[in-house]
Order: sequence, then C-alpha cells, then structure tokens
Amino acid sequence: MFKSAKASSRDRYRVNKVLKRKQLDVNQLSLGMYIAELDCPWSESPFLFQGFILESQDDLEMVRECCNFVIVEVSEEEWLEIQPNKKTKQVKRTRYAEKQNIASELSDANRTYQAAKSHIKLLFSSVQLGQALSTEETHGVVSECVNKVMQNPNALLWLTRLKNTDDYTAEHSINVSLLAIALGRHMEMERWELENLGICALLHDIGKLNVADEILNKPSPLTAAEFSEMAKHTIYAKKLLMERSDIYPGAVDVAYNHHERLDGKGYPRGIDASKISLFTRIVTIVDAYDAMTSDRCYKKGLSSLDALRIINKHKGTQFDADAAQKFIAMIGLYPPGYLMEMKNGEVGIILSHDKGYQLRPKVIMVLDKNKDPQPENIINLSQNPEDSEGNKYQAKGVFRSGAFGIDVGDYINRGLKIKGMDYSMLSE
Ligand SMILES: [Fe+2]
Repeated sequence: MFKSAKASSRDRYRVNKVLKRKQLDVNQLSLGMYIAELDCPWSESPFLFQGFILESQDDLEMVRECCNFVIVEVSEEEWLEIQPNKKTKQVKRTRYAEKQNIASELSDANRTYQAAKSHIKLLFSSVQLGQALSTEETHGVVSECVNKVMQNPNALLWLTRLKNTDDYTAEHSINVSLLAIALGRHMEMERWELENLGICALLHDIGKLNVADEILNKPSPLTAAEFSEMAKHTIYAKKLLMERSDIYPGAVDVAYNHHERLDGKGYPRGIDASKISLFTRIVTIVDAYDAMTSDRCYKKGLSSLDALRIINKHKGTQFDADAAQKFIAMIGLYPPGYLMEMKNGEVGIILSHDKGYQLRPKVIMVLDKNKDPQPENIINLSQNPEDSEGNKYQAKGVFRSGAFGIDVGDYINRGLKIKGMDYSMLSE
C-alpha cells in the first residue's frame, strides 16, 4: 500500500519551528503578515494597537503611506531531510506567525471581564448564604485578569467604564481589582505581586455582604448609627477572610484597613501611616476613584477628571502621595472609554492614550457639530487633524458615557466601524 504524499514528507523531514523578527521594506509586505513594529512611534500612526495582522488592502496601503520599513514576526520552519546514512539536508521555509487580531483581543478582554463578574457574583451569593468562601477559582480568575491587563491595559480599563448600576457590588469589586492590577503594572511590580494585589482588591469590600441592603443602598445620607454599621464592613471582612487559611494573608490586611487614612483620621481603628501597607494604599486610591465615578441610586457619579482632582487634593493626608501621582498619570486627562467634545462641537469616544501622547489621544468621531450621528472615523490628535472646514480639532471637554445621548456600551455591543472593519466586543 502507498503512503500519502503528506505522510511520506513527514517521514522524510524533521521540522524545527523558530519565531523570528525580520525587517522588511513596506513594498515587500503582503496580506496575512503580522506587523510587530513600525519605523515610527505607534502613537503617530493611524493604527489602534501595537502588533496587528495585515488583514485588508486598506491596512496595507496605510502602512505603506506612513512607513518605509517595518518589523514583521515570522515563524521560520527548518525542514531537515532525514536520509539514512547520508548527511541531513536543510531546507528553509518561512510561515507567518498567527497572532490575535484586534477584534478577538477586545472580545477576549470582554470575556475575561464577564467571567470574572459571574464568578464574583457566585462567590458573593455563597458567602451570603453562609457557605464557606471558595478561593481556588478566585485565584484562577485573578490570574486571567493579570494576563489580560499585561497584554492590553487599554482594552480592560475601557470595560471598567461600562458600569451597570444593577450589578454595582460585583462590578465595583472587579473594577477595583483591574485598576489595582493596572496601577501595580504601572508601578513595575512583579507578576506574582500583581496576582496577590488583584486578590486583595477583588475581596476588599467582601464585608459589605454582612451589611443590610437598606443601609448599603440608602438614597439619603446615613445616620450616625447607620454609618457606624456601614464602617463595620471592614471588621466583618477581616473575620470572613481570617476563617480561610488558604487565602493570601494580605487580603485580610487590605479588607480591614482600606478605609484608614495616612493622617490617622480613617476607620475602623484610626491607625497611622506607618501601619498601612502598600497594597492597602493602592486599593484605597482605586476604590475611591471607582466609587466616585460610579452612578449610585442616591448620587450621580463624578467625571474622571473631578475624581482625579479630589485624589490629588487629598494626596499625602488620605492617599499615598506617590501611588496617587502614578495613578493620576496612568488614567490621564483623557481616559479611554470616555467621550470627548471638540471645540467645533463634534463628539467622539476616546480610544487610547499612548505613552508620550497622553494629551493627544486617538478618538472615534461619532457625532457631527450639530450633535447628529456622523460616519465613525478615527482621528489621531497627535497628528493635528483638521475638520471639514480646515480647522484643527481641539479638545473642549471630557464626559462620561451617557452624555450627548451616547452610551459607549451600546457602541461597543453593536460594533464600531473602524477602518472599514466591523468589530464587536460581544461577537464570537
Ligand atoms: Fe470599603
């Protein structure tokens, strides 16, 4: 019986795969190649993310317009011919590495976020039912969040802006965890530290499960007695977490102390700065930011900028000065997922603010100067783009999702049109 050609070539060759980077002239590029680096800063290019596959003729032409050469990632295969009793003959073939495209990167981030949310909801309801706190799966969820924040912090931080008031406790816990991991990454912490920090942040408010809903969701100011019950969520959390021997011990410290202040005016104990750990200091800042920028049944959330101003004002007394400064720099004036109104009246959604160009982000324009929908297109403020009347685009203000009738979540769910390509974070 004859062997198939495929089987026989497999028998005759041994294949070694090696990932390599190669510099190519833009005229040598073809569709399907993975572009790892451009010869100019990404922030000055019309491309959204670092590293992408050339998927369309449009992308190819855009790369040719803005670069002379690029670095592509290739998977090189060395086919070594096996010839008994003879010297092995080497044949080289090159295949282009398959990487994730933008759509699946965003979908992945969303999948991680939704999985974390379902897990934390289950965890909270089992604690409310008096069941033992299961921590094994929690570690897995946080580890996946760390992976995604390390890959693409913009995509996950964008998701922290899409708040659903019905799921406040679960979303707040995940947002605090993601923001803490992102800040830890920004402060150049090691991966194992980010995982521990993520666990501490995720469980920081777990004691609220023992506080009555009428107090948690009261639409008017709390009485002194109600406030003192609310403040006890730190003590309840300490008790709940101390019952578990397999949980990272820092989680007890963070849950117990995240309302303490450097000046000793916090609760529940009013301890001084020397007793407040770095993880607690980080969680205190991101917890305050997420709480201030969230809508609650009793108050409308602040804008990101106003929340950052408050953190800046209280740095050194309430918040750790160094971590607060780093957090403000990380979030920036123009956070992705927020709306930007231009001086000409047009409105867009902020996509990314790249290092070195925080004040000149990329924006998807969605409303024209009369606040009517316009075909979505991306402008890169670092390139000083002009509107249809020849005036340079300039930022006038930044607003939360919901302003101008724009729900950023809706835009993402139904798919944005970028460079002629439809993508949806909820697709797949
Ligand atoms: Fe709290």
